[in-house]
Amino acid sequence: MVILVTGGAGFIGGNFILEWLSNQEEPVVNLDKLTYAGNPETLAGVRDSSRYFFIQGDIGDRKLVAALLRNYRPRAILNFAAESHVDRSIKGPGDFIETNVVGTFGLLDAVRDYWSHLRPAGQEAFRFLHVSTDEVYGSLAPDDAPFSESNRYEPNSPYSASKAASDHLVRAWHHTYGLPAITTNCSNNYGPYHFPEKLIPLCILNACAGKPLPIYGDGMQRRDWLYVKDHCHALRRVVEDGVPGETYNIGGNCEKANLEVVQTICAVLDEVRPREDGKSYAEQITFVQDRPGHDRRYAIDASRIESELGWKPSETFETGIRKTVLWYLENEGWVQNVTTGAYRDWVREHYGT
Ligand code: NAD
Ligand code: DAU
Repeated sequence: MVILVTGGAGFIGGNFILEWLSNQEEPVVNLDKLTYAGNPETLAGVRDSSRYFFIQGDIGDRKLVAALLRNYRPRAILNFAAESHVDRSIKGPGDFIETNVVGTFGLLDAVRDYWSHLRPAGQEAFRFLHVSTDEVYGSLAPDDAPFSESNRYEPNSPYSASKAASDHLVRAWHHTYGLPAITTNCSNNYGPYHFPEKLIPLCILNACAGKPLPIYGDGMQRRDWLYVKDHCHALRRVVEDGVPGETYNIGGNCEKANLEVVQTICAVLDEVRPREDGKSYAEQITFVQDRPGHDRRYAIDASRIESELGWKPSETFETGIRKTVLWYLENEGWVQNVTTGAYRDWVREHYGT
């Protein structure tokens, strides 16, 4: 028995593989293109494991995927591979359409071919888990109920539109061809190995470097934050006991305004690594131009996965953010490794500094 993970050198996929290998005997094959967001250093601890196999390649490369499926014969596939950064999708949507839409299509078609040739028992047991986002539901008004699985899809950014398209493809491959596929729609993750283009790691690292902490617009946009390891546990529950054709919302039940998130990071840093001048890191908060089309509020109703699969997040934002800040302070080597020339170019182009 073996599982195939795509995009396993990224933030969530990397955490998932580390968690999986430390909890189960079953080997993992990781197919990752290693874009700017893929970092094999995240998996350095399992690189030499006889239960870990890495293949560099594109989910849209059908020949490669078909060969992988033939050779490893996975019983389940978790598709994390995607272009994932909303700001980058606004500056250049092409890669998002290529990977998230066309790539997912190629992957699904290769998987369908593999699955259709399995014996009946193998077909029955097989799972394709597509990891998606709450952003497909669009933006909530202040008094709206959190997103449930039956909310309408109303994606607003090129990123969320491309993820919505991929969710629809997955749905159709189940409905039309019977592929035992499940989609999860998760809220904002944070935790170790998060690429520092995203709000939380960016602010931790900028704070320590004495740089501005850029808050878009008024900073009152709200997100539902989930510690990444809690997400990984949820995905394991879904791949084991989720119902094919269903979707599951996953969230931290932890809605916060961006400004509050950054203030909390500053408060933890003030305590664990005080600034030399005795002032608070909050002095570095800087309001900058808003993201075009910026969604105001996301919130997840995770009651289905809680009641049907018995999953609940174990970290609160306070415990999770403290662990995260400490992880970044203790893992300077990993941070140096990801902040390549390409990353510095993005920061210069996007923030103008
Ligand atoms: P990430 O950007 O950190 O990692 C993406 C990984 O996919 C990278 O390792 C990259 O090299 C790889 N990849 C990109 N294009 C590929 C291709 N064509 N073929 C193979 N590999 C490719 O992303 P993440 O934050 O870990 O997100 C993982 C998944 O979870 C994505 O599908 C994302 O939409 C979804 N998601 C993320 C969050 C979040 O808060 N980060 C929340 C909900 C859902
Ligand atoms: O909701 C799930 C989504 O969460 C995932 O599908 C995406 O892959 C993931 O990137 C994340 O998207 P966001 O756009 O919410 O994450 P980001 O960290 O980029 O931004 C979080 C919030 O902080 C958002 O409201 C924008 C704001 N922000 C972000 C950056 C990078 C700032 O105010 N300043 C910044 O510099």
